[in-house]
Amino acid sequence: EDDRATTLPRPKDTTEPHANSSGYDLRDVSTKAVLMSARDRFRDTQWSFGEGVSITNPTNPSEIVGSVTFVAKAGVDAAITRAKPWSAEASTRASILISAADGLEATAPELLALLAREAGKTAEDAIAELREAADFLRYYASFASDDAAPLGIVAAIAPWNFPLAIFIGEVAGPLAAGNAVIAKPAESTPLIAMRVTQILHDAGVPETALQTLPGEGVVVGAALTSDPRIDGIVFTGSTATAQAIHRSAAQHLDPAAPLVAETGGINAMIVDSTALPEQAVRDVLASSFQSAGQRCSALRVLFVQSDIYDPFVRLLKDAMAELRMGNPWDLSTDVGPVIDERARKGLFDYIAEHDPLFQLDIPDVGLFVPPTLIEVDGYADVSREVFGPVLHVTRFEAKDIPSIIERINARDYSLTFGLHTRIDGRVEETKRALRVGNIYINRNQIGAVVGVQPFGGSALSGTGPKAGGPDYVARFTRQNVRRDDY
Ligand code: NAD
Ligand code: ALA
Repeated sequence: EDDRATTLPRPKDTTEPHANSSGYDLRDVSTKAVLMSARDRFRDTQWSFGEGVSITNPTNPSEIVGSVTFVAKAGVDAAITRAKPWSAEASTRASILISAADGLEATAPELLALLAREAGKTAEDAIAELREAADFLRYYASFASDDAAPLGIVAAIAPWNFPLAIFIGEVAGPLAAGNAVIAKPAESTPLIAMRVTQILHDAGVPETALQTLPGEGVVVGAALTSDPRIDGIVFTGSTATAQAIHRSAAQHLDPAAPLVAETGGINAMIVDSTALPEQAVRDVLASSFQSAGQRCSALRVLFVQSDIYDPFVRLLKDAMAELRMGNPWDLSTDVGPVIDERARKGLFDYIAEHDPLFQLDIPDVGLFVPPTLIEVDGYADVSREVFGPVLHVTRFEAKDIPSIIERINARDYSLTFGLHTRIDGRVEETKRALRVGNIYINRNQIGAVVGVQPFGGSALSGTGPKAGGPDYVARFTRQNVRRDDY
């Protein structure tokens, strides 16, 4: 056994407005030791959860990270038959979920390695994600209660862009409420889901209360969400898939049973001429290019006030030129790869249809897409969520702010919004008028902290309740039925 540090220190306080999204300092000695340990010990590991599908590393697609067997439709039927709501008392469920959080932290090097090698996560992103997953477990455990009955069996369908944190969040909420959960991770990131499922089982979650079924969305996901024995669905992914699930679930789901869906957005930020330019540029870079722009919360359309537009865009381009793209293992890497060849090609096709103001060079090998800046005439020019490191920029006059807000509200597809200003009245007016999920003032607009910044949108961006917020666990209960009566 390696005698170097294997657990991460507690993060710095991330509730203060300008903390980075992970709260960890990569220069911190013990954080560095965990990252080095991850690299040394798990550089060549191959994780095997059966055969059939090889999972590759987006930084180096010829490298196989592990293998998995995708479940067929019959496997979904068997899992639903086997599933049993978690009958343990609330205090037992809570303490098991808290032990699972400890288990995640004790397994930090392996999970960080999986995040880097299976999902292309940079060190900062991977640490933040591990921390968020542990936070979800501890936070939702605190809402376990014996006062309400669970729904029964909940299907949890997760995306690849937070293969650990969102997977765990979707599983932990319904488990805290005492449900059985059948989870389906995304096609490209099943290994980490299988590994953390083992950690939850080791902590004491019964195997009948949590089953993870790797497989294709249109096979496993569709079979699960359309089965009449499923009592609730929690989903994170694209709006189109949420709508497909909604249509099929409507055929069978009890009208009171929830479909909790978190989807995407075309998120904007306004930088007015009173903003501090260096701070705003730093926050734009994090919001648009961290995680290679593969966050539902990421900034997509930047509004810069006309009188500062030219110098601000110059500063932004200079700062973009300093971003380092490369292997997520390197602590100096700012931007890693995108998830797969399909995503890479789609992003290159999109960029080719435009005439970028600025584009970074990319490494020769790996699924990299350059951080790219595209000038547009306004919000309406961005017709869809471009899920990668592509930022649109446009100019505005102060008198245009109400109409910008109106357009954002009219689209009903905004998860986050950023405002950089030193005008207090503008902050208040904007907060009052905007209908978006999360508003961030004078900071970046990613990395919501569990329990502090409940996260989620409305309309086309999601159903609520917000993840990491006080209403989440209760959504997976029958509120008017006591557990004893169930
Ligand atoms: P996706 O919709 O393609 O896939 C999400 C999951 O749904 C995967 O597990 C997939 O296998 C499954 N799926 C696909 N078709 C299905 C079907 N017919 N029935 C049931 N399940 C099915 O999304 P993605 O590309 O994996 O993720 C990116 C999207 O997720 C972006 O739009 C992003 O904005 C959104 N997202 C939202 C949040 C949030 O919290 N709001 C967080 C992360 C990602
Ligand atoms: N919760 C993630 C964020 O805030 C998606 O960036």
